[in-house]
Amino acid sequence: MFAKVTLAALLSVMAVPAMAAQCDVTVEGNDAMQFNTKEIVVDKSCGEFTVNLVHTGKLPVAAMGHNVVITKAADKQAVAADATTAGPDNDYVKPNDDRVIAHTELVGGGEKTSVTFKTDALEAGGDYDFFCSFPGHWAIMTGKVVVK
Ligand code: CO
Repeated sequence: MFAKVTLAALLSVMAVPAMAAQCDVTVEGNDAMQFNTKEIVVDKSCGEFTVNLVHTGKLPVAAMGHNVVITKAADKQAVAADATTAGPDNDYVKPNDDRVIAHTELVGGGEKTSVTFKTDALEAGGDYDFFCSFPGHWAIMTGKVVVK
C-alpha cells in the first residue's frame, strides 16, 4: 500500500510540465522619473527571486536616484515617508525597517544594482507594491508585485 502511494506521488510530480520558473526580473528607471514596468511577477516556487535595477538615464544619484523597495501596499506611504527621513546616507530606506520586504541600493544614471530575497517573505495573492523611495518618486515610480 505504502509503495503504491509513493509511486503515485512520484508519477504526479513527474507529470508536472517542465516549465522553468522565471526567478528574476530587470526593471529600468530613467531620467524622467519612470520605471519601464508597472508589474513584477514573483513565482513563490523560485525560493529566491532577484530584482535587477538598471538606471538608463544620465543624471547623478543625488538628482535622480532610483531604487526598488518592496512592501505591502498598505505600508508603502508610511515607508516612503520614513525613507525620506532616513536620507541619502541610508539609500532612502529606514535601517532595519521590518515593513521593507526587499530593497536595492540607490543608483544614479548609468548604474545598475540588484537584490535577491527569499520568496517565503511573500504570500501568494497578497497585495504588494514596489516603488522608488527617493523623495518625491514613490507616487509615480511604483507598481504591483504579483505573487503566484
Ligand atoms: Co527614483
